[in-house]
Amino acid sequence: MGVLLSLSLLGLGGCSSSDSSSEVSSSASSSSSIPSAGTVAELTFNRLYELADFPVGTAVSAGTEEFSIFSSDPDIGQPQRDLIKQHFSQVTPGNIMKMNYLHNQYGTFTYDNANELIDWAKSFGAGVHAHTFIWHRDYQIPQWWNQAVAAGESAEQLQERLDYHVTEIASYFSGKVDSWDVVNEVIANENGQWGYRNSTFFQQLGADYIERAFIAARAADPHADLYYNDYNISPGGGKFQFMLEMIDDFLERDIPIDGVGFQMHVHMGWPSIDAISASFQEIVDRELKVKITELDIPINNPFDDNYSYPDNYQSTFTPAVAERQKRRYCQIVEAYMTVVPEELRGGITVWGVYDGDTWLISEIFNNNHDDWPLLFNKLFQPKPAAQGVGDGLMRHSC
Ligand code: XIL
Repeated sequence: MGVLLSLSLLGLGGCSSSDSSSEVSSSASSSSSIPSAGTVAELTFNRLYELADFPVGTAVSAGTEEFSIFSSDPDIGQPQRDLIKQHFSQVTPGNIMKMNYLHNQYGTFTYDNANELIDWAKSFGAGVHAHTFIWHRDYQIPQWWNQAVAAGESAEQLQERLDYHVTEIASYFSGKVDSWDVVNEVIANENGQWGYRNSTFFQQLGADYIERAFIAARAADPHADLYYNDYNISPGGGKFQFMLEMIDDFLERDIPIDGVGFQMHVHMGWPSIDAISASFQEIVDRELKVKITELDIPINNPFDDNYSYPDNYQSTFTPAVAERQKRRYCQIVEAYMTVVPEELRGGITVWGVYDGDTWLISEIFNNNHDDWPLLFNKLFQPKPAAQGVGDGLMRHSC
């Protein structure tokens, strides 16, 4: 999949921002150099999660993934585990609880890697936000589904398979996870209009599969909070409006849903804090929880204004850029604290422990350039961004 296609599929396109203060050069060679003064922060707190009454989480690579937190490589595993224990009260498995990982052969479930993660998190009191029963990306669609479709099974038979998938997994993890992204990214712009994503699930079952997943999840695990999770909803607009219609319809018909997961793969200058606040407010008005589920803030985004991709990008993480990123993290957390009342705060999760393991570089930037979107640098040191999150949580000015 080409980078532009990935970008539009994953929703990182379209925005505005300005980045005039930072120095720009044409080579991306800084990743292994020693971080300069001002890009590493002396945190004013010991533990990020202690600043919040709600989960402060991070996505993790686990199992046998390259950057698994359980890696025996001393430059990958242990330092990530140390950081997570110190600063986070919840983990989201970035991949290992997706459909194909847990349920690759119909009727055979592979829970070992998820159990390893859940048990480890529990050992120091952290929770788990589970991700996700149903997602459309090809590599996550199990062959049993494709084969059943190819065999011409009826919609009823196919729906039974999905019900079984959700029911088995939700009941197995009942009591072990805090919450679920029940379905992920089911809304898309299809032929110029916002609507249900034309995934294989939608093609076979219409939109019904979405509510059926929520119903099955609630029946199998009455305790976990159930979220609808998507990207590019924090700016408001057509996608967000379509989602609100779906959610209002759920609420009207008592389809069980507890909250909305705002992925928030945002940019430095987009969306505006006003837009983000207004979107949170719409969910709060419906008395649903707001959870920031996948926050990351890259510096180099080909869709930022004044950005000429791919020749012209920020190749060094300068103190000026680090400060801007700190402020951006702080303002997003501040908006969350301001708009979302305590009882509706589902938590804030960043999508990756450290800049050495961010999905953006390989999957969105196609390895064309470096980036530094997370709270800890490649040497596992805290960045100003981590202080920014802390300041936001402590309600200090950004
Ligand atoms: C990404 C993972 O981080 C990658 O490792 C994987 O190769 C692809 O998926 N939105 C989501 C996540 O909901 O599941 C995606 O995770 C990132 C975008």
